[in-house]
Amino acid sequence: MKLRRSSSVNDNVPFRSCVSIFSLVLLCGVGTLFPRVLPAQSKAPRGKTVASSNPLESPVLEKKVTELLQKMTLEEKIGQLVQYSAGQATGPTSGRTEDKDMIRKGQVGSLFNVTGSRETNALQHIAVENSRLHIPLIFGLDVIHGFRTTFPIPLGLAATWEPELVEKAARVAAQESSAAGVRWAFSPMVDIARDSRWGRISEGAGEDPYLGAAMARAFVRGYQGEHLDSPDSIVACPKHYVGYGAAEAGRDYNTTEISEHTLRQFYLPPFHAAEQAGAGTFMSAFNSLNGIPASANPFTLQQILRKEWGFKGFVVSDWNSVAEVMAHGVAIDGATAARKAFLAGVDMDMVSNLYHRNMMQLVQSGLVPQAEIDEAVRRILRVKYAMGLFDHPYTDEGKESAAMLRPENVALAKRAGTRSLVLLRNEAVSGSPILPLAAKISSIALIGPLADDAGNMIGSWGALGRGEDAVTLRRALSQRLGDSSVHYEKGTNILDGSDNDIAAAVQVAQNSDVVLLALGEDAPTMTGEAASRAWIGLPGRQQELLEKVVAAGKPVVLVLFSGRPLTLPWAFERVPAVIAAWYPGVQAGNALTDILFGEAAPTGHLPLSWPRSVGQEPLYYNALNTGRPEADPAHPPEAGEKKFLSRYIDEQNTPQFPFGFGLSYTTFSYGPTQASVKQISLSALERAFAEKSKHTVVLSASAEIKNTGTRAGETLAQLYLRLDGTSIAMPVRMLKGFQRFTLAPGESRKINFDLDAETFAFWGAENKFGVEPARVTIWIAPNGAEGEGATLGIAGTSR
Ligand code: NOJ
Repeated sequence: MKLRRSSSVNDNVPFRSCVSIFSLVLLCGVGTLFPRVLPAQSKAPRGKTVASSNPLESPVLEKKVTELLQKMTLEEKIGQLVQYSAGQATGPTSGRTEDKDMIRKGQVGSLFNVTGSRETNALQHIAVENSRLHIPLIFGLDVIHGFRTTFPIPLGLAATWEPELVEKAARVAAQESSAAGVRWAFSPMVDIARDSRWGRISEGAGEDPYLGAAMARAFVRGYQGEHLDSPDSIVACPKHYVGYGAAEAGRDYNTTEISEHTLRQFYLPPFHAAEQAGAGTFMSAFNSLNGIPASANPFTLQQILRKEWGFKGFVVSDWNSVAEVMAHGVAIDGATAARKAFLAGVDMDMVSNLYHRNMMQLVQSGLVPQAEIDEAVRRILRVKYAMGLFDHPYTDEGKESAAMLRPENVALAKRAGTRSLVLLRNEAVSGSPILPLAAKISSIALIGPLADDAGNMIGSWGALGRGEDAVTLRRALSQRLGDSSVHYEKGTNILDGSDNDIAAAVQVAQNSDVVLLALGEDAPTMTGEAASRAWIGLPGRQQELLEKVVAAGKPVVLVLFSGRPLTLPWAFERVPAVIAAWYPGVQAGNALTDILFGEAAPTGHLPLSWPRSVGQEPLYYNALNTGRPEADPAHPPEAGEKKFLSRYIDEQNTPQFPFGFGLSYTTFSYGPTQASVKQISLSALERAFAEKSKHTVVLSASAEIKNTGTRAGETLAQLYLRLDGTSIAMPVRMLKGFQRFTLAPGESRKINFDLDAETFAFWGAENKFGVEPARVTIWIAPNGAEGEGATLGIAGTSR
């Protein structure tokens, strides 16, 4: 089968979160013991999925691995450490290609980029029947946001802020890919990304470690299911460990410099969450981290992943990243690169062929201890046993096609698509907001290169997703309104266009009641891997098309298809309605028309800060205050104002739209945040923190939220925290929870967040995770920039 790659309620809330009445006990609890313990289920998602029965931690399994290891020759052991791409390459090729021969000789432990039950079975038969020890292969693939049923790109999935939905989507991906013989997804990508120039920002969950961790857990749970050894479960592979998203200047594969504090506080939490959720494998990254390649980095791979977190699975390198250790400059020959990567903790070598070529000699010369080889092989076999591969190595070929695009899965894709859309603007035209559109529109102009581009709806990395499965906006609109009401003109291509085509589009706009403009990036070439952009506006002549169509004077709704925020200050000032659609997947058009015509209300929220201009990048809400903060960062600089502040002379500091932002078809007001206590005693907090498993409530925060509009609607209440006076500077805000509420028109509700001790914990100046005395500000807010905070203290001296 052909792979499609371009020429390549709130289980996340770490505390009980519900609409509730404060515990009065807490109100008088200044410095006392905290009486309430959160119910078990509200905390469960933070621990391992199956804490006491982690599939990788079974003595029975360990015994089997030991017995098998004893039978293996060194060559067979090294074979398990080797992986090749057997299908369409997803990187520069350098590996061997005589797959069948290698399998027979036990020289390969894993293949990837080969899909289809027949194809994988054929190779598996060789491994299981013709190799000396009958060790099955593990087949991997980049299953990024669905297998055949394509869901929104990961950034869009993150914009749902619904881990439960993401878990379901990942489950569907697991069912489909396992039916095609693929039991290992190189996903989720959990890299924190703060720079929209980086093309791979589309593959992750954005800039926030808390939301990122929630999404990481959801993916892992969905892929691995209740039982990893179930034939429809696949092993997750959180990537790219670690720091890849901090590529300097947003240029892919570029250097990263991240302090240990920043690494632990921001970049590692989604990886740790994935590990705690039971992820069976990790992928090491391409980048160098503080001068050491991430694929040869003992600090991150050995010290943090293995020693501190106790990870029992195995680490696969990224594509050729073992060999790239040489390009990074810390090895001048392949043997040294292989040794450094392996001893740092990379168990499996993806395609570089350097383990195959050098490991025997490295062991024989004593440069790599045999015990280290045994340990790496143990990790790989452990995962293979835990997956049940030894018991059921083959895939039922009769079930494959029926597993694809099941109607209920397509329906889920539509729901995910609908929930991923973020309404950025909805201004009044003739007295009322332009959206939703009236159900009976007699004439609508549909313009733009992405209005009828099915392939693009799949995104840049849709595994087996096919454009032909995707419903475009044009198709959905025509089905809904009838062809005669929809006047389609492409206007321009994504990258170029002619005066005539633009003029034809303008004419169609002039003759219609409403204009829908579908503009954006080309997913395969402009988003994802190796697709960094220095300019992140509309490509080609699309800005010109936009301006000319708007000048036609009709109400315009702009639908942006992109793998990143686009800097479009002109549009955000002049176009009345704008939707960030990302790439919504197979049901793109239906998801969009449901929103456009009000059958569903927009509920998506930004998982990142949307920049005004590229010069603001990297831009993220959870930044430090600096010594000279601008008091009013939304205020554009004026002549004669104070100069020596942390600001631009030609741009505001604030984003175009803040992290967490998203409009609905109604409006909400958020009252001031109230905290249940004015002070928390540090020693009581420390005690509660030490008893992590109990999740004692140390504080409740509440706010009154009102639906001030005329329609029922859903709001996403976000809880943010700030700590001042700590041993190390902490961000101006940190997301610590979120909950959704549906409120009827005019309805008010007091909502409550119960916070446990860990909510206040952070990585201090000594790189220890704990609580400290601090001034605390808490906001319950509709996004990362609004809300009226409550202040309290954590008082006392550390023990
Ligand atoms: C390189 C990419 O960085 C990684 O995300 C992917 O999983 C591998 N290629 C395999 O295709």
